[in-house]
Amino acid sequence: MQKENSNEKKIGLLIKQSFEDLEKEKIQIIRKKYLEKNGIISQSLQKISQEKDLERKKKLGILINNWKKNLIEKVNFLEREKHKKEENSEKENLIDIYLEGKKIPLGNLHPINQIIEKICDILNPLGYKFIESPEIENEEYNFNKLNIPPNHPARDMHDTFYLNNQLLLRTHTSNAQIRLMEKYPNQEIKIISAGKVYRRDEDDATHTHQFTQLEGFAVGKDINFSSLKRTIELILKKLFGKEHPIRFRPSYFPFTEPSVEVDAQCIPCQGKGCNICKKTGWVEILGAGLIHPQVLKNCDFDSQKFTGFAFGLGIERLLMIKYGIEDIRNFYSNNIRFLRQFSER
Ligand code: DAH
Repeated sequence: MQKENSNEKKIGLLIKQSFEDLEKEKIQIIRKKYLEKNGIISQSLQKISQEKDLERKKKLGILINNWKKNLIEKVNFLEREKHKKEENSEKENLIDIYLEGKKIPLGNLHPINQIIEKICDILNPLGYKFIESPEIENEEYNFNKLNIPPNHPARDMHDTFYLNNQLLLRTHTSNAQIRLMEKYPNQEIKIISAGKVYRRDEDDATHTHQFTQLEGFAVGKDINFSSLKRTIELILKKLFGKEHPIRFRPSYFPFTEPSVEVDAQCIPCQGKGCNICKKTGWVEILGAGLIHPQVLKNCDFDSQKFTGFAFGLGIERLLMIKYGIEDIRNFYSNNIRFLRQFSER
């Protein structure tokens, strides 16, 4: 009787001890100490298996099993709480690297500038350097030194905006030729210049009072017509593709001799005729020629020793056939939906 009482007491104490331990110890320690195979609960069960009094044995069994059940429940509960706490603090400290950042909308270069850059990329490896030339120009550089004296009929097509008696908005980028050759007489030069040019014109789908030209020229000792032809073919083939039909036509410019104009087959209609090519199937892309000896002389070059070629390319025209743009005014209206189509990204 004595022994049985002490067993019950002992277990009662162990139960009390286990829940006190739970307050002080780590959960793993409690599991190990009480709940594992050789833990105190198993040992207690083993001990009571020797109990002879079945009634008492049953009572003690129930007591231990309830203890085990309660302890497991409490341990599990504490474990879940601990987990939750850890998760929350992790979340608080977490930087979500997958969260999309605020998008800063990036613009893109205007198609006109994109194509200028492309042509520079083609010509730079051949030794061409880019220079700026003034948009406000005087008659000397825009006309006279290019062999277009006052009253020359070519001035008719180059009517422009005059700021005063001497200054005007340049009608072409050919002023770059004079400005540079004058600076470096009798030297070999390879230059690209591009920018806005102006003419007196009524604006419509194919005409504007302001458009963009790219001028290229080379001066040296053995430059001839085939140098010009090869250079132009190189540019146009890189822009339109190797097989794209282009044609050279004889033409006239006061500052070149001989002179040509170069057409590219219209891309949107594939040469069948449309609004962009005015039903001809071809679009004039540039004027070119060998620099007139008189122009070289005007810039203090020895025209016996030096020759050169030059070309002036209409950027908008080129873009219009390349992309099938029917109205030239699209280039200047700042319509974001039009411009976004030329995003390079
Ligand atoms: N300046 C000419 C124009 O605007 C285009 C041109 C023709 C430029 C022949 C040149 C050239 O450099 O050699 O119509």
